[in-house]
Amino acid sequence: MTTALITGVTAGIGAAFARRLASGGYNLVLVARDTERLRQKATELHDRHGVEAAVLTADLATEEGITAVEDRLRDREHSVDLLVNNAGFGNKGRFLEVPVSDELTMLKVHCEAVLRLTSAAAESMRERGRGGVINLASVAAFFPRGTYGASKAWVTQFTQGAAKDMAGSGVRLMVLCPGFVRTEFHDRAGMNASSIPDWMWLDADRVVETALQDLARGKTLCVPDPRYKALLGASRLIPRSVLAHASSTTGRKYGPK
Ligand SMILES: NC(=O)c1ccc[n+]([C@@H]2O[C@H](COP(=O)([O-])OP(=O)(O)OC[C@H]3O[C@@H](n4cnc5c(N)ncnc54)[C@H](OP(=O)(O)O)[C@@H]3O)[C@@H](O)[C@H]2O)c1
Repeated sequence: MTTALITGVTAGIGAAFARRLASGGYNLVLVARDTERLRQKATELHDRHGVEAAVLTADLATEEGITAVEDRLRDREHSVDLLVNNAGFGNKGRFLEVPVSDELTMLKVHCEAVLRLTSAAAESMRERGRGGVINLASVAAFFPRGTYGASKAWVTQFTQGAAKDMAGSGVRLMVLCPGFVRTEFHDRAGMNASSIPDWMWLDADRVVETALQDLARGKTLCVPDPRYKALLGASRLIPRSVLAHASSTTGRKYGPK
């Protein structure tokens, strides 16, 4: 049986990956911080799909958390065939409103954890000559949008570069760049998302379906919706200063402090 390890699996896009992969017969390793929610998910997935779902509580903003997941990915007796680096969050506020320590936590989860977990997984996958890694970035990677956009730009460049370096090894790496997806993300970040027009919202299950199809096709970058593909194409024709204004205002209204 094949096994997938998914980070940030208690909600949103990670939970959608877990549902979709369990329905396809994957055994799962479920990673996040909330043990109770992880256990509930594991039971639910096991009962509904008959797969094994192991719980690994880890805070990817900490050294111990990252190490625990690295160790699991390096376990040659229980190999992981697909890694989904999905855990992530937004900070509440703009530059200088967010404490630098929170920005550094974001870089730890979005960049350091992704680098280390991708490396641990890809190394053992290369030995077996097969495997896949999906790293969650965002369309924000293509726009000036604070530390969040910058961290996702790093994920995008890193993943596409690593995919090129791993070409011919049997290991596929792909970066997934969705637009706005209805999840817990915006509430958790204290964002008031009411100004985001309906047409910009994507469904997590459809995002996941497209991502898995694109990984199977060997793509290294997945923008999982034609509307956002068109938006990205059009953005190349717009002056950077106009883009910076639009991207720093869209969906960045914050509730009371
Ligand atoms: N929603 C969007 O509009 C959107 C758009 C583009 C890209 N993305 C990206 O998609 C990914 C998933 O976001 P989502 O929208 O599904 O968000 P979400 O609903 O808020 O879920 C985030 C998940 O990440 C986990 N997580 C957060 N911090 C963690 C940490 N330090 N260690 C371990 N797990 C942690 C959370 O679980 P616990 O709290 O239990 O740890 C939760 O399961 C993120 O990387 C995000 O940047 C989201």
